[in-house]
Amino acid sequence: MTPLKKLFPLFLCFLLAWSCVPAAKKKDRDIEKKITGLVSKMTLEEKIGQMTLVSCSNIPEDEQFSEALRKGHIGSVINEVDPARVNSFQKIAVEESRLGIPLIVGRDVIHGFKTIFPIPLGLAATFNPSLVEQGARAAAMEATSAGVRWTFSPMLDISRDPRWGRISEGFGEDTYLASVMGVAMIRGYQGTDPGDPTSLAACVKHFVGYGAAEGGRDYNSTFLPERVLRNVYLPPFLAGIQAGAMTLMTSFNDNDGVPMTGNRFLVRDLLRDEWNYNGFVVSDWASVNEMIPHGFAADQAHAARLALEAGVDMDMMSFAYITQLEKLIKEGAVSEKLVDEAVRNILRVKFLLGLFDNPYVQEDLHKEMFYNPHHMELSRQSAVQSAVLLCNDGTLPLDEQKIRSVLVTGPMADAPYDQLGTWVFDALEQTTATPLKAIREHYGHQMRVIYEPGLKYSRDKDRSGIRKAVASARAADVVIAFVGEESILSGEAHCLASLDLQGAQDELIEALQSTGKPVITVVMAGRPLTIEKEISASNALLYSFHPGTMGGVALADLIFGKEVPSGRLPVTFPKTTGQIPLYYNHNRTGRPFLGNETMLDQIPLKAGQTSLGNTSFYLDAGAAPLFPFGFGLSYTTFAYTNIRIDQVSYTQKDTLTLSFDLTNTGKAAATEVAQLYVCDKTGSVTRPVKELKRFERIALEPGETRSVSWELPISELAFWNLQMKRVVESGQFELWVAGDSDSGEPVLFEVNN
Ligand code: NOJ
Repeated sequence: MTPLKKLFPLFLCFLLAWSCVPAAKKKDRDIEKKITGLVSKMTLEEKIGQMTLVSCSNIPEDEQFSEALRKGHIGSVINEVDPARVNSFQKIAVEESRLGIPLIVGRDVIHGFKTIFPIPLGLAATFNPSLVEQGARAAAMEATSAGVRWTFSPMLDISRDPRWGRISEGFGEDTYLASVMGVAMIRGYQGTDPGDPTSLAACVKHFVGYGAAEGGRDYNSTFLPERVLRNVYLPPFLAGIQAGAMTLMTSFNDNDGVPMTGNRFLVRDLLRDEWNYNGFVVSDWASVNEMIPHGFAADQAHAARLALEAGVDMDMMSFAYITQLEKLIKEGAVSEKLVDEAVRNILRVKFLLGLFDNPYVQEDLHKEMFYNPHHMELSRQSAVQSAVLLCNDGTLPLDEQKIRSVLVTGPMADAPYDQLGTWVFDALEQTTATPLKAIREHYGHQMRVIYEPGLKYSRDKDRSGIRKAVASARAADVVIAFVGEESILSGEAHCLASLDLQGAQDELIEALQSTGKPVITVVMAGRPLTIEKEISASNALLYSFHPGTMGGVALADLIFGKEVPSGRLPVTFPKTTGQIPLYYNHNRTGRPFLGNETMLDQIPLKAGQTSLGNTSFYLDAGAAPLFPFGFGLSYTTFAYTNIRIDQVSYTQKDTLTLSFDLTNTGKAAATEVAQLYVCDKTGSVTRPVKELKRFERIALEPGETRSVSWELPISELAFWNLQMKRVVESGQFELWVAGDSDSGEPVLFEVNN
């Protein structure tokens, strides 16, 4: 055999192996090749241009802007939502710049673009990831039809402080719930093929710890040790990245003294090297420059160097890279290799989004996308499922056959802008279905609907309207009061030191109660408010986080029983702000609250120092919240029986099977959110009293019983231990299955490694 013939079988094997390489891997390799080719042709100026993100709303002169695009000084833009203008910018970048690299157009599409969904905190309350995914897909269809291909969402910051205005933008206090919801949103935005023109690149933000701002004041410092970061704050980001989130944003806070935009350990070492993230990292708005007032960078050049070295690929609105990097590189202070890496990360996303092949948007597509009836129905369903019934003496649901007149009152009853919530730039206020409008349209033919707002807006202190509302209440069979917060009271930089209802709203509720008429209170807000007083002054109280475009229809349907409440609290509700931070999954203490402690008003005069209980509680507020995480009532009741696990002892390779029967013991067909919590009783470091590990929405007819079975791989009980290793430690565990984080009986099991 000639040597060539000998080699032939080898060659065949190679060909075979080559053709078996999965198509996705081949596509990735092709993209990397294209990136290498492109980067080799780029000037340093063009590279830094790719690393620069500019907002159209801050650029006054169009000609200057066009020239910057033409020269390749701007790689991406935000805040342009007119498809014709998007195309004209794209045309300059693609057809008039030297290398024709397309722009990415970004926008804060946080909970919908035109059709607005409940705020993310409300979406978390649905405990329905599939619905959240569908909503995000609808938002992506609408936004991409305007030419937007990148959103700065989801916000995956765990927040345990409702004073922080941005608690509204996240999925609450729980790591597992936030991870599941974040993944659902990313899937919805990006769809199955990022290259499809309806795919909207997600941006997981704000990396990391931003929600733990000290005192709940935005932009404040955080003090999160590595173990807390790894156990609580980082997992939603890891889940998001594993789900394919194409971009990530650094946060404004400094953690233990290091601003996140210059945090090399977390952004470069952990995100890139440990997690192998290959999307791009964008700074938050001006957060490169803000390292100067932080006192971390001496000047803009220093800030640019710190951010680049930390691994921030794109500078949003600091103009620090474009003004400083070239000089720094020429002086040898910064390696051009870092710039090349950053550009590669950015170009990779542009290729994946298919922007090189298909940079333009079809300019009339939005006509069939905006407020599409399917999106509006998803918005209604999301609002229905996000509302949480917190108390009800049987007044709800109202029977429309029996009621002759209803008073609709309160500043949020007809507030089309405010019910949409924070971060709404693109929706048209007139498309909002307010509760007043919905009650009139859908239920008004059966009964007289009287409207007397009582107060004009949530902060209103003019009490003259309250008298009129009270007079109208006397003439009605039942009162529905819509109170809460205007949208401007939550969101970025909108923090509050007091979480009581604003203005004279508490007086309005009290005055209505004094009429003796049944009072249904609906709170529409961007955060948990301290509503203990309103709970006792109301026959029923529904908590609706700002519910979005179709919120009014959803709430009317819930009030009149066309729908049954199924939302559950994604955050603990404190009785008073003095209890904050208050979250269900706190670590076990040496002296837990027992419930039999002496409270403030029971303390005898000159009581001895040790006579009051010596446990972890407040003399005036106890230790319990007003409502626990996971809580929410229904128009029916549910019973959990026959709860069992398949073994009593497991190894870390095993999977635990939990089975239980769930029965609808009431009279309404309804959905329960069944929840599984686990406690690791002893660890090399103290562990949380409980942690959510699974949940499922289960719909049941009255009297129906369903046998449910869930699997929990023991590996999911791992945590970062004393040696900073992620492990499952041997020992005893307890689990609970129940309708909230404070119910159920523990079931014991063991893990033996
Ligand atoms: C600042 C906010 O912190 C961030 O969440 C947002 O995406 C950017 N501005 C862009 O608007």
